[in-house]
Amino acid sequence: MANLLDGIVAVDALDVASRRVFVRVDFNVPLTEDGRVSDDTRIREALPTIRFLVQAGARVVLASHLGRPKKGRDPKLSLAPAGERLAELLGTEIVLTDDCIGDGARKVVHDLRDGRVALLENLRFHPEEEANDEAFAKNLARLCDVYVDDAFGCVHRAHASVEALPRLVATRGAGFLLLKELKSLGALINAPERPFLAVLGGAKVSDKIGVLEALLQRVDALLIGGAMANTFLAAQGRAMGRSLVEGDKLPIAREILAKAAAKRVTIALPTDVVVATATSAPEGRVVSVDAVQPDDMALDIGPATVAAFRERLLRARSVFWNGPMGLFEKAPFAQGSLGVARAIAEASAFSVVGGGDSVAAVHQAGLGDRFSHVSTGGGASLELIEGRTLPGVEALRT
Ligand code: 3PG
Repeated sequence: MANLLDGIVAVDALDVASRRVFVRVDFNVPLTEDGRVSDDTRIREALPTIRFLVQAGARVVLASHLGRPKKGRDPKLSLAPAGERLAELLGTEIVLTDDCIGDGARKVVHDLRDGRVALLENLRFHPEEEANDEAFAKNLARLCDVYVDDAFGCVHRAHASVEALPRLVATRGAGFLLLKELKSLGALINAPERPFLAVLGGAKVSDKIGVLEALLQRVDALLIGGAMANTFLAAQGRAMGRSLVEGDKLPIAREILAKAAAKRVTIALPTDVVVATATSAPEGRVVSVDAVQPDDMALDIGPATVAAFRERLLRARSVFWNGPMGLFEKAPFAQGSLGVARAIAEASAFSVVGGGDSVAAVHQAGLGDRFSHVSTGGGASLELIEGRTLPGVEALRT
């Protein structure tokens, strides 16, 4: 793959003083029941770019989506809480527009002074955003002289603010977060130090067939956990009780195992699992993968598997991790994910973790700063590893 950063201008090489700089950020953050931001990581990660632009005297126009609104405006998905959190972090006032296009937004942006920040209301209140609609992009283009993309979590989406809009703006570039993400993931794709290990988890093989196939071409070993490991274990003929198994994916799982064997890539599967008869069980039982009972559900990898994964991870030079090893959000089934997080943190490998639950496990274990890179984009990092071109990155090249 050619250098991911070819033809991409960094935000600090753009002429931004006194200009309206439209910054696509990813403020798609989790909210509490009462509408406060419960994890502000993505907002914090956008701060270096925003602070740089403020100090450079730009008129900063931030834009993001939040959630997946079904039918236009949904007050529950307003960006107001994200704006409030940003104002606290920046220590400055942020004006939130009533809509991302139209007279109100134009007036706010027109009145913006140098070094001040406005936030446009949720882009997805207009279905044209996800449709990559040209006319909608032209409306957004009326709000900007310069376009900056700092929303790594969204670059795999061919949406208007990510794809059509930058093509309409001659002066465009990447923010510091996007550059950091592309550099870190690019290092894994282009020239990983070996051994290169990938740890994949999560619920479904079907979500990750593309990435499994792509990783087989790149890695020395693939460690598989989470519910997707159940499908592989079932494909090898094991009885998995009531565990989540994708019955229709057994042939593809067998094919992946055969391809790995032919390429001499190790696929390491669990040898023991933590089982329970209900996900609400206060604790689980550790059993061999050959002893799962008809009523059991495998909900985490077991300690012997953690130890085996750990031994491999400690010898790795590059590691990519996506997807939890079990039902991580429930304490009795979190040890597998936490164990993998600790092993990667201890290894001297160049390590990248992406994806909501695996990133949450890293933070829960207090190990965020022990990883070389904690990605803000689960889907985007997987598509990048898969070797797909990312619409938002392609549209930025000049
Ligand atoms: C994410 O949370 O992965 C990004 O913000 C993209 O959101 P989406 O999956 O709703 O497009």
